[in-house]
Amino acid sequence: MKLIVMGACCAVVAMTSAAAPTYAQDGTQARSLAATCFTCHGNEGRSVGGVPPSLAGRGRNELLQVLKEFQSGKRPATIMHQHAKGYTDRQLELIAAYFAGVKPMPASGAPAARGGS
Ligand code: HEC
Repeated sequence: MKLIVMGACCAVVAMTSAAAPTYAQDGTQARSLAATCFTCHGNEGRSVGGVPPSLAGRGRNELLQVLKEFQSGKRPATIMHQHAKGYTDRQLELIAAYFAGVKPMPASGAPAARGGS
C-alpha cells in the first residue's frame, strides 16, 4: 500500500519537473533575447516618445513579419537590418511573441505593470 502511494507521488513529480524546464527555458530565452531591444525601444518595448516605435502589445504576426522584412532587406531601415540579421527564425518568433504578450504603456501614465504572465 505504501509503495503504491509513493509510486503515484513520484510519477507526478517526474511529470511536472519534465514539463517545467521546457516552458521556463523558452520564457527565459525570450526575455533575454527581447532585452537586447529595450535599449532603443524602451524598457519592455514601451518606447518613450515613440521613437523608435513601441513594440509592447503589438500583434505577434505583425512583429514577426516586420522583423523578417528587416532581415531580408525588403523593409527600409537604418539599424534594424543589421540587428534582425543576428537572429534565427525561431529567435525572432520568440521575440515577437514576447512583445505581443507585454501590455502597452497605460495611457494614464501610472507606473507600468509588467504584462504577460
Ligand atoms: C540600436 C537601436 C535599436 C535596437 C537595439 C533595436 N531597434 Fe528596432 N528599431 C530601431 C530603429 C531606429 C527603428 C526604425 C527603423 C530603422 O531605422 O532601422 C526600429 C524599428 C523597429 C521595428 C519597426 C517598428 C515600426 O512600427 O515600424 C520593429 C518591429 C523593431 N524595430 C523591432 C526590434 C526588435 C524586436 C529588437 C530586438 C531584437 C530591436 N528592434 C532592437 C532601433 C533599434
